[in-house]
Parts: sequence; structure tokens; C-alpha cells
Amino acid sequence: MSSEHQSPLKLEPVLKVGALCKHFGGIKALDGIDLEVMPGEILGVIGPNGAGKTALINTITGFYRATSGHIQLGKTEITHLPMHHIGRLGVGRTFQNIRLFKRMSVLENVLVAFKIFAVKPMRSLFGAGHRKEVLEKAMHWLALLQLADKANQSAASLSYGDARRLEIARALAGDPKLLLLDEPAAGMNESETQQLMLDVQKIRTNVGAIMLIEHDMNMIRKLSDRILAMDYGKKIAQGNADEVLQHPDVLKAYLGLDSEGEDA
Ligand SMILES: Nc1ncnc2c1ncn2[C@@H]1O[C@H](COP(=O)(O)OP(=O)(O)O)[C@@H](O)[C@H]1O
Ligand SMILES: [Mg+2]
Repeated sequence: MSSEHQSPLKLEPVLKVGALCKHFGGIKALDGIDLEVMPGEILGVIGPNGAGKTALINTITGFYRATSGHIQLGKTEITHLPMHHIGRLGVGRTFQNIRLFKRMSVLENVLVAFKIFAVKPMRSLFGAGHRKEVLEKAMHWLALLQLADKANQSAASLSYGDARRLEIARALAGDPKLLLLDEPAAGMNESETQQLMLDVQKIRTNVGAIMLIEHDMNMIRKLSDRILAMDYGKKIAQGNADEVLQHPDVLKAYLGLDSEGEDA
């Protein structure tokens, strides 16, 4: 963004995380993480296995209770709110290991995500004449992710790439201000990954901001506005792709080399 187009008002972050810690006994899964995700941004998060990436998502979503630190969604402190409340405030996610209701249809998997279901039983919802509107919205998200023609199939019948897309459609149905994607390309073949990259580009305008955890560096490089690298629960680098992917501490974390290039 060129400076003459910048608003004189400072943009408020969609997500602000401060000094966030999550400990499991002696293991520091998160050890003082500070980060911000700005409106419209895709923040890429990388780090070797065990770095704390999933713990970060689990703690933001309230699936894990933070040991200490703060998490703010817009102006709202969400650090100690229960998971369903955080979801309703507008935090959506996908899981590293895809989680779908396999016995339900593709469409039903999206329907369960509508916020309204969290407060009204399905019968009263349909009775109140919302049925058409909710179905249309669900079909809209499925169409956006090329799943409309599979709406009535069982979720169990989907290919891996389609199952991942369904998880994303379900997250979008919650109308998220912040979408957290945990290794969406893991287990995908080359063409599925290419399609996923197009899909993430397409949906970024439908959500306030995205945090993308990914091991596929091509995807991280192409999609992320900024990248944050983690190791042992700490932030080890942050910046643009060139700065982070060439950072000595990042190379060391991935390759197990010390800064002189010797085996650690
Ligand atoms: N529920 C848990 N109980 C105990 N240890 C956990 C739990 N979740 C994560 N950890 C530990 O926290 C560290 C970070 O894990 P994780 O966030 O899954 O890493 P990543 O997603 O970066 O591969 C690891 O050492 C892991 O074993
Ligand atoms: Mg993980």
C-alpha cells in the first residue's frame, strides 16, 4: 500500500495476541507469543513440527485455556471465553486432521455451522421461515468452493481435497472475522494444492483476515502478506517472505543447523 493511500486513522488489528503462553507441565507449547493480524491480511505461520503452531490456534479458539497472556479479537478480550462463545464472536477454523460429520451430507455439514443454530433449535428456525434463506446461504458457500453438485452426497464420500474444501465452507458459514487454517495443504497432491491456493485467494474477501499455518513454502510464499516463524513456542522471525525464509534462525530450526552451518 503506497503511503498517500493510507488512512490517517491507524487500522485496528483483527487479532492481537500478547505474551501468550500455553504450558503443558514442563512443555512450553507457547512461550510468550506476540502477534497481530491486520484487516484483510493473510498472516502465514511456519515452524517445524512441535513448534506450537496448532497450540496457537487451539489457544486462540479457546480449545486450550491460555496459561498466561492476552488474546483480543477486535476490541474484545477473548482470552478466557469458552470456545463456543469465541466461535460466535467470529473465529472460524479448520483442523490439521480434517473433522467432518461423516454420516451427514455435505450440505448438512455446512448447515450445522450457521450461528443461528447455536441459539435456536433447528425446528423453530425452519418454522420461522428462515429455511430458504439458510439453505441459500449454505449453497452459496458450497458453490464458492465447487461443492454445490455434491451437496447431497455423504461427507464420507468426498475426496481428500473436497473434504478440506468442505471444512473451509463450514468455517465460512460461521461468518468469521478471523479464519484460522491449520495446514490445509497437508496430504494434498500437487493439483489439489494448486486448487486450494486459488480457493484461499478467492475466499479472502469473505473473511476479515486469515492466519495460514502451512508447511508448503510455495503456498506460504504466494499467499502470505507477512510470515511469522515459530520454534519451541517462541517467535523466531517475522516479516516478508524473503526476510523470514532466509532468516538464519529459521534455516537452523528447519535444517537443524547452527548459525555457522554445523549440525546442531
Ligand atoms: N494437549 C497437549 N498435551 C500435552 N502436550 C501438548 C498438547 N498439545 C500440544 N502439546 C505439545 O506442545 C508442543 C507444540 O505442539 P503443536 O502445537 O501441536 O506443534 P505444531 O502444530 O507446531 O506441530 C509439542 O511439544 C506438543 O507435544
Ligand atoms: Mg500442528
